[in-house]
Amino acid sequence: MSDVSMAKGPGGAGPTAQDLVVLTDVNKHFGALHVLQDINLSIRTGEVVVVIGPSGSGKSTLCRSINRLETIDSGTITIDGKPLPAEGRELARLRADVGMVFQSFNLFAHKTVLENVMLGQVKVRRRKREEAESKARALLDRVGVGNQADKYPAQLSGGQQQRVAIARALAMDPKVMLFDEPTSALDPEMINEVLEVMQQLAREGMTMVVVTHEMGFARSAANRVVFMADGRIVEEAEPHQFFDNPRSDRAKDFLSKILHH
Ligand SMILES: Nc1ncnc2c1ncn2[C@@H]1O[C@H](COP(=O)(O)OP(=O)(O)OP(=O)(O)O)[C@@H](O)[C@H]1O
Ligand SMILES: [Mg+2]
Repeated sequence: MSDVSMAKGPGGAGPTAQDLVVLTDVNKHFGALHVLQDINLSIRTGEVVVVIGPSGSGKSTLCRSINRLETIDSGTITIDGKPLPAEGRELARLRADVGMVFQSFNLFAHKTVLENVMLGQVKVRRRKREEAESKARALLDRVGVGNQADKYPAQLSGGQQQRVAIARALAMDPKVMLFDEPTSALDPEMINEVLEVMQQLAREGMTMVVVTHEMGFARSAANRVVFMADGRIVEEAEPHQFFDNPRSDRAKDFLSKILHH
């Protein structure tokens, strides 16, 4: 893994060449609700950013905006220096560059595990089937479900399905991976097997944005914690600083509720 701590721009202000995902003055409304308010956020190559905050604070909307599942009202979002494409093949490629893993696993129910991990490679990345299959098998092995390749998603546990969803996103060779509460729908005994795959990815230098309530993961894997409330980024800090010394009252309040349960 590259030395992420060296990747900070001089002075730390404004986007730099290492910034892979850059949101500048992003605003979004749902009707009268101002769900993203003047969001400025830069994510460097190899950085792991954990986004936390109360329900309804805009965490999912932020993630969904980064791969254009939601449009924004104003501001800009760039990936690798390029603004998000609006539609067509360019948009499909962007979605492949930005892997997304949701709370609900969103696998294709009528396709086998192997086909789930091959499909995008063939359709979007235009790989030959043999190449897509060997890559799919290697990734399924890597996330620990290689022996499930010929089953259908419903025949797998939630933890296994989520690991297939991660393999499917990785099969596209994404530049960045977005995780929106990937373990929230899982039974407790399955949470760790998914978090371990994510920990491994982080160690290998994958650029990741992770919305999660798993504070142990945030502490050990994140380079930075972003705390959102009411559509704003209220606080950003390294994990130890954020958890041990939150600055804002909103963050203190939030942490006291989730950590003392
Ligand atoms: N498609 C939509 N139409 C209208 N309102 C929406 C839509 N999606 C989200 N919202 C509202 O926008 C706000 C932010 O939602 P969002 O899902 O981004 O929050 P969140 O921080 O991910 O919350 P949670 O922790 O519950 O997942 C909420 O008030 C939500 O009700
Ligand atoms: Mg959400």
